[in-house]
Amino acid sequence: MMLSSFFVLMAVAWPAVLACQQHVQRDAASLARRTIVKEPESVILKNVRVFDGIARLPPSTVYLSSGLIVPFLSPHANATVIDGAGQDLTLLPGFFDAHAHPETTADLLSFARNGVTTVMDMACSTRAECLALVREHADDGLPSVFVSGATATVPGSANANLPGFPANETIATGTREEIDSWVQSQLDKGASYIKLIQDRPGQLQLSPEEVQTLVNASASRGLQTNCHVAAYDSVGIAVEAGVSMVHHLPFDKSIDADLAHSAKRAGTISVPTLTMMRAFGAILAPGMYDIALESVRTLREADVPILAGTDANAVNKLGIPIATLPPPISFGPSLHDELANLVEAGLTPLEALRSATVLPSLHFGLTPDRGAVLPGLRADLVLVEGDPTKDISVTRNIRKVWIGGVEVV
Ligand SMILES: *[C@@H]1O[C@H](CO)[C@@H](O)[C@H](O)[C@H]1NC(C)=O
Ligand SMILES: *[C@@H]1O[C@H](CO)[C@@H](O)[C@H](O)[C@H]1NC(C)=O
Ligand SMILES: *[C@@H]1O[C@H](CO)[C@@H](O)[C@H](O)[C@H]1NC(C)=O
Repeated sequence: MMLSSFFVLMAVAWPAVLACQQHVQRDAASLARRTIVKEPESVILKNVRVFDGIARLPPSTVYLSSGLIVPFLSPHANATVIDGAGQDLTLLPGFFDAHAHPETTADLLSFARNGVTTVMDMACSTRAECLALVREHADDGLPSVFVSGATATVPGSANANLPGFPANETIATGTREEIDSWVQSQLDKGASYIKLIQDRPGQLQLSPEEVQTLVNASASRGLQTNCHVAAYDSVGIAVEAGVSMVHHLPFDKSIDADLAHSAKRAGTISVPTLTMMRAFGAILAPGMYDIALESVRTLREADVPILAGTDANAVNKLGIPIATLPPPISFGPSLHDELANLVEAGLTPLEALRSATVLPSLHFGLTPDRGAVLPGLRADLVLVEGDPTKDISVTRNIRKVWIGGVEVV
């Protein structure tokens, strides 16, 4: 396939955004009807190995009460006791998916059953569909969802032409005033951060100056910026502008040491979404995935923080002919694929686990309440059989999941 048509395909397929429209009404209604079905339990986990977000601890006891991890529970407390003695169990913080496009409650349930307890939505084109899924402090056993609002792009871009993209949500003139009010409108609608697109220099998209203005307008409101990138030069533009995170990786050539060091100096975080890169590679050219793996190796050597994100989507619900799209990426199981892909790219299993727990919590500013196994934090936890700090594949062996102390599996 020619490179130019490839990039058009990229631009059409990636921001899986778009999918939501027809599901919005139904989903909002079903969430409104949802009532709390379970109370957070008091639980004592004994003799379980713990990955606390940073390191592997010897078998310990962990107490859950009122939705939190607590320092202690009286032996007389009416608590469920789970004794891992002789069972080879590991307790971990609930996983983050740092790049996903959930649309429905069913998607959230699928995340929950697979141990994903916090989901960062990375593009939702209208207000209703995003807010319908926001579950920041839910106590009904569904994952927390944070949203970006609309994607920053220009009229007529491949993104703006996607079905369901609201015409009035594009950035038309690129003036400081327009960009400023666009960012404010995303914030007013409940965006936790901003999403923007840099596919390939030369495409119809925000100019490097407009990207810089957008980053400044976001930063002045305390909003992080998340930039979709598809080419080496796009990463350069994003890093130069000081975006908080670059999502995906270049397909044309690997990030080299120079660019990785620039990213490190700029404080840019990488969300490689290797699962999606792999799915595209399988369809278009396997070499693309090798280029992506090489980028991750280089970013890691430059000590750029790497977060686990999948691009989980249901993009085929869009009505775009399936032949032009990658396979939809599952909500939940794909996070375990991503962990394995990160290890394939050279992360140690411990580093891969951090990329889905303490690091996304830190870099999305959620450390005060989640991402580690520590008294005082939310009881968002996963209990697996085996030792994932040695063998990453065992994160799939899920025995139990708690979200806010509510047992979901
Ligand atoms: C103890 O907890 C169980 C399950 O949570 C509940 O069914 C039972 O009524 C509780 N007993 C007491 C004495 O609170
Ligand atoms: C676009 O229109 C929708 C629906 O009227 C409105 O909620 C939204 O705020 C508008 N967006 C902008 C950026 O003005
Ligand atoms: C963005 O902010 C930086 C640092 O405050 C400043 O140097 C730069 O001129 C600003 N650029 C734009 C386009 O607003």
